Amino acid sequence: MSRAAVLAGLGTYVPRRVVTNEDLARAMDTSDEWIRSRTGIAQRHWAQPDTATGDLAVEAGGRALKSAGTHDVDLVVVATTTPDHPCPATAPHVAHRLGLGPVAAYDIAAVCSGFVYAMASAAGAIAAGIADRVLVIGAETYSRILNPEDRATSVIFADGAGAVVLRAGEPSEPGALLAHDLGSDGSLKDLIIVPAGGSRQPTGAVTASGTRPAETYFHMEGKPVFRHAVTRMAASSQTLLDRVGWTPKSVDWFVGHQANVRILHAVADQLGLARDRTVVNLDRVGNTSAASIPLALGDAASRGLLTPGDRILMSAFGGGLTWGSTALVWPEIVAG
Ligand code: UT7
Repeated sequence: MSRAAVLAGLGTYVPRRVVTNEDLARAMDTSDEWIRSRTGIAQRHWAQPDTATGDLAVEAGGRALKSAGTHDVDLVVVATTTPDHPCPATAPHVAHRLGLGPVAAYDIAAVCSGFVYAMASAAGAIAAGIADRVLVIGAETYSRILNPEDRATSVIFADGAGAVVLRAGEPSEPGALLAHDLGSDGSLKDLIIVPAGGSRQPTGAVTASGTRPAETYFHMEGKPVFRHAVTRMAASSQTLLDRVGWTPKSVDWFVGHQANVRILHAVADQLGLARDRTVVNLDRVGNTSAASIPLALGDAASRGLLTPGDRILMSAFGGGLTWGSTALVWPEIVAG
């Protein structure tokens, strides 16, 4: 019997600064009414300029370790779209700052699907005997890559971090990740993209004139992305349910990527899941990309929604395009 990855701890962190819809409406041509009705978002957190993704990752990672009651991990995986630097990865420095010793550490870049990809990667490392305990962190500072002139993305994306500790255990234990479904369609890479800053278009963030070129900012084609998000998350969730042997109605909580409440409801409808079984925290934190799933899990745990034994289905979708799903039975843990 192969070794399973079992959820042993959960921690979350959002920067203190709250940005309301009204704050944004003062800075750009938008309104609280539009943002709420089209996305479900009421406010989000944006980090101060001196705070980077790694800083948020350290906070969430420390809380997850405390929640798991251990400081002993042998791998750190950070999922992020907004690393501290293009090189090196963010994870080694996060591991160093958490005092975890000379452990393996790497980043995963799967945009909003990053955390689900990172959990699958960690589960693979545990199954292969490469690691016994893994700290998986999703952390983002989207405020650094949002174009202040682009109201279509600025009102949606936000900063935050969430982390879990996964430990080796039995597939039959509560908390065991029961299956994984991952996928991608790179033919649609331009739908969600930061065009510059990589090897195709290397450029610094600021030109000699002091302005920042539009290509260094995040760009998203909202409408087609919406359609693909619903289709892919619903299909991936169904594949996962078939693998695990659960019916949609037997799922206690659907923890989907927090992009848009209309997307979450559409996925629930397609799956045949009651909408009130969908965890929603995007109203308070916006779309935090790779941090979205652990922040939603942490929010549901802190609101007392999750009871040990509950069946949890997680599904994400993002740039790449990428998507992925996993599931577990909620264990006895105290989230931090
Ligand atoms: O996290 C990774 C995956 N991301 C997603 O899943 C996001 C998927 N997409 C979405 O959630 C939605 O497409 C958006 C929330 C981004 C946009 O909502 P929409 O209902 O698709 O709006 P739209 O882009 O079709 O725009 C409708 C109208 C347009 O005006 P016209 O052409 O009808 O006159 C936009 O210019 O709303 C306008 N608009 C805005 N108005 C006020 C777009 N953004 C804003 C805004 N405030 N912030």
